[in-house]
Amino acid sequence: MVGGDTGAFIGNVHRSAIRMNDNALLVAGCFSSNTEKQNNTCNTYGINEDRNYATYEEMADSEEKREDKIDFVVIATPNYLHYPVAKLFLEKGIHVVCEKPLCFTPEEGYQLKQIAKDNGCLFGVTYTYCGYAMVREARELVKGGVIGKVNMVVGEYLQDGKLRSKLSGSTARGWRQDPTKSGPSGTTADVGVHIDSVISYVTGATIDSLQCSLEYIEGSELDCGARIMAQYTGGISGILYASQASAGFDNFLRILFIGDRGTLEFVQEDSNYLKLMKINEPIQILSRGKSYMTKEALHDVRLPAGHPEGLVEAFANIYRDFANAIFDKLEGKEIIEEAYGYPTIDMGIKGVEFFTLCIKSNNNKSTSEHI
Ligand SMILES: NC(=O)c1ccc[n+]([C@@H]2O[C@H](COP(=O)([O-])OP(=O)(O)OC[C@H]3O[C@@H](n4cnc5c(N)ncnc54)[C@H](O)[C@@H]3O)[C@@H](O)[C@H]2O)c1
Repeated sequence: MVGGDTGAFIGNVHRSAIRMNDNALLVAGCFSSNTEKQNNTCNTYGINEDRNYATYEEMADSEEKREDKIDFVVIATPNYLHYPVAKLFLEKGIHVVCEKPLCFTPEEGYQLKQIAKDNGCLFGVTYTYCGYAMVREARELVKGGVIGKVNMVVGEYLQDGKLRSKLSGSTARGWRQDPTKSGPSGTTADVGVHIDSVISYVTGATIDSLQCSLEYIEGSELDCGARIMAQYTGGISGILYASQASAGFDNFLRILFIGDRGTLEFVQEDSNYLKLMKINEPIQILSRGKSYMTKEALHDVRLPAGHPEGLVEAFANIYRDFANAIFDKLEGKEIIEEAYGYPTIDMGIKGVEFFTLCIKSNNNKSTSEHI
């Protein structure tokens, strides 16, 4: 693992998720550039001294030469390190799981894809919500035509972190406030990409064009919100709103998939259920873990209905899929990454194209159709 020391947020979630699958071990890491944090994390996880690395460059160099080199690296650093760290490990022939946003520009994404291909590497991107069993159920129901042809998607991702920071005068958000470390986009790249990735994951559609107005909190260079009208492939229209300055919201991700025969609603804070509404029929609340679920999505259920699952299980599903691809690759099988279910580098690139288009549309006050 690179990044994700014991005091970090998402690195701990990755480790808990990987442990749930019992098929991978944490054996090496550069968890922090701070020596004390690095050593504490290595002590906590029993990392051998010879695999306690002060820099990610040293880790990539040294691991490449070992007979028992790592199979894959997890990148859970601030955004500006995703590209150089991923590039280096791919060049050493090591598979990569990387946090979102994949990188800063679409060009960097295309390069990473090419390097992964040249070195025979798999590449997963942790768009967390694509790992939720009920998002995967929605995908199967849409595929099965249960709501007919999807014409419209409405997606919201509302938090209030940036508002709380402003009101308290806190700078606790650290690297996220710094464009050199966070990237050219704030909220759009941080949570907007989650809305777009779930829409694409469930419908199979990608953005053709969009119109976007960004929102800013006074004194901040990076956006704290994005109001987007999007046109997806396959004639699907979208209204998306991402905000980290919406008072009172914790982690409200809600997506409506509106078809010509019915509608599905997924709400992340109530993620063990999926609402199905059809014309002239009673509203149904589908419960995660019940036998009426599709067999494909039941495969992603870890606990019986009524025992709530959440973020960690979603990450664990993504890691299980990724490990399955690695095991098949080790057996010499031909790999089509999309078939395993984890979000691939193509989805990572789409996310970067998405926030790039949003910035372009906002700046030009126009509809953006091309990068
Ligand atoms: N998928 C999701 O739902 C989700 C949720 C939260 C964060 N994230 C993403 O995860 C990433 C990390 O976010 P976070 O909230 O955990 O941040 P964080 O600041 O809590 O953790 C960052 C970690 O990177 C380490 N680090 C910094 N520079 C380093 C270097 N040069 N070498 C090695 N390690 C270094 C820090 O020591 C720390 O451990 C971001 O890209 C963020 O967008 C994704």
